Amino acid sequence: LVLGVDLGTSAVKVSAVSRGGKIVAQRSFDYPLSQPKPGFSEQNPEDWVNGTTMAIVELILKDGIAVDAIKGISYSGQMHGLVLLDQNKQVLRPAILWNDTRTSQQTQEISEQMGDEFIDITRNKALEGFTLPKILWVKENEPNIFAAAQTFVTPKDYLRYRMTGRLAMEISDAAGTVMLDVAKGDWSSEIQAAFDLPVSFFPPIIQGIEAAGNISESYALFSGLDTNTQVFGGAADNAAGAIGSAILKPNMVWSSIGTSGVVLKYEDNADVDYHGQIHFFNHAIPNKYYSMGVTLAAGHSLNWFKSRFAPAEDFTDLVASAEKSTVGANGLLFTPYIVGERTPYADGDIRGSWLGIDSMHQRYDFVRSVLEGIIFSFKDIFEIYEAAGTQFDTVIASGGGAKSPLWLQIQADIFNKKVIVLENEQGPGMGAAILAAVGLGWFESVEQAAEKFASFGQVYEPMAENVAKYAQIYQIYKQMYQQTAEISH
Ligand code: XUL
Repeated sequence: LVLGVDLGTSAVKVSAVSRGGKIVAQRSFDYPLSQPKPGFSEQNPEDWVNGTTMAIVELILKDGIAVDAIKGISYSGQMHGLVLLDQNKQVLRPAILWNDTRTSQQTQEISEQMGDEFIDITRNKALEGFTLPKILWVKENEPNIFAAAQTFVTPKDYLRYRMTGRLAMEISDAAGTVMLDVAKGDWSSEIQAAFDLPVSFFPPIIQGIEAAGNISESYALFSGLDTNTQVFGGAADNAAGAIGSAILKPNMVWSSIGTSGVVLKYEDNADVDYHGQIHFFNHAIPNKYYSMGVTLAAGHSLNWFKSRFAPAEDFTDLVASAEKSTVGANGLLFTPYIVGERTPYADGDIRGSWLGIDSMHQRYDFVRSVLEGIIFSFKDIFEIYEAAGTQFDTVIASGGGAKSPLWLQIQADIFNKKVIVLENEQGPGMGAAILAAVGLGWFESVEQAAEKFASFGQVYEPMAENVAKYAQIYQIYKQMYQQTAEISH
């Protein structure tokens, strides 16, 4: 067996996975998120360690998982979080998380100081959620803590340190700090110099499938695990999700609708340059990469609509009611910017809108417009790919958007691509398990393991008539951002 530890923002989920890719048992533990001030989002790293340990203890004691059967462990982690450590590797302050927005000023300072060079090196814009702006925030606002800080890590790398006693940063998470020279795969000396960060502040980088040590004696005593169990690097949650879903070919794009939405593409090399318009990170597979764009309110837009206008309705029925409407929702158009938008605008202040409301419209037209608006926002990300000359022909759909045949057809028609449903979806924990299985040598490659562990289902082909209609509507959708920005800002 291997354990895949999925360290999320609201909970940790630990899956025991067999050599054949079956989840044998799974345990999860919640932990709180603290928001001491508006825009702040923090967590206590000790909660991650305790939650993970509780889950492991339950797998052993309640599910009867034999300790000596656990050969390897690996991780998927919430990205970008900052854990600052002192000279004894003690945590100095609560972790500042990916969804913390206190760092607007620091992101500006970064672009003023380094301009385009920053994007050339890190392949990303310095967004508020990323790690470097958080480090600069601590430096400016908590100088005593910063003075005591000897090093830092991201959340799952901290958890791995506590389980092995060895500190390292896995490369896909290192990329999300925006301090990595992505093409070189190493910390950027330009960024270290520009922000006066000593080389010793940066932990050694390891690969996702690389052995990071064994379970330490003290953690074995604490958890009941065995010191023979090997521990591997793991991956940032989006990289782990892509691996678990076998999105590992350049012709494939992943469309995932959760609370937020992600469009993610596997990249064979670092040659393509999106100029920071979408994120570009190192993969957890050596010398491979992925790019991704984010719609902040994907499933969230639909949940919001339901809670305000159809609280008593069954979710599946509400989505299915959109069948009664037409392609283009009888002239109703929705932009899903209800909490701002990340890609392509990086605009936290923009707000959503409906265009074309008619007294004849029914609730099902509104539902359909929400489903379509979310997919139009994904189409904006596809446009960045097209502008960069990136080719792909297949979209693998997962999350809430893959549960409704109507919504899947809408995806095929708006994207004008073949859409395939991911079956037996297991999330990023499966990606973590795959990395451990490959690290142990059970498979020749991550690709080989992923193909064995993931399976694809029904195929939705674009329908020419709908494609033409949506192409017209999309031209209007694209203008709505500019036309409504003034009301929002
Ligand atoms: C990616 C991002 C989120 C977190 C969630 O850039 O900020 O997807 O990884 O855990």
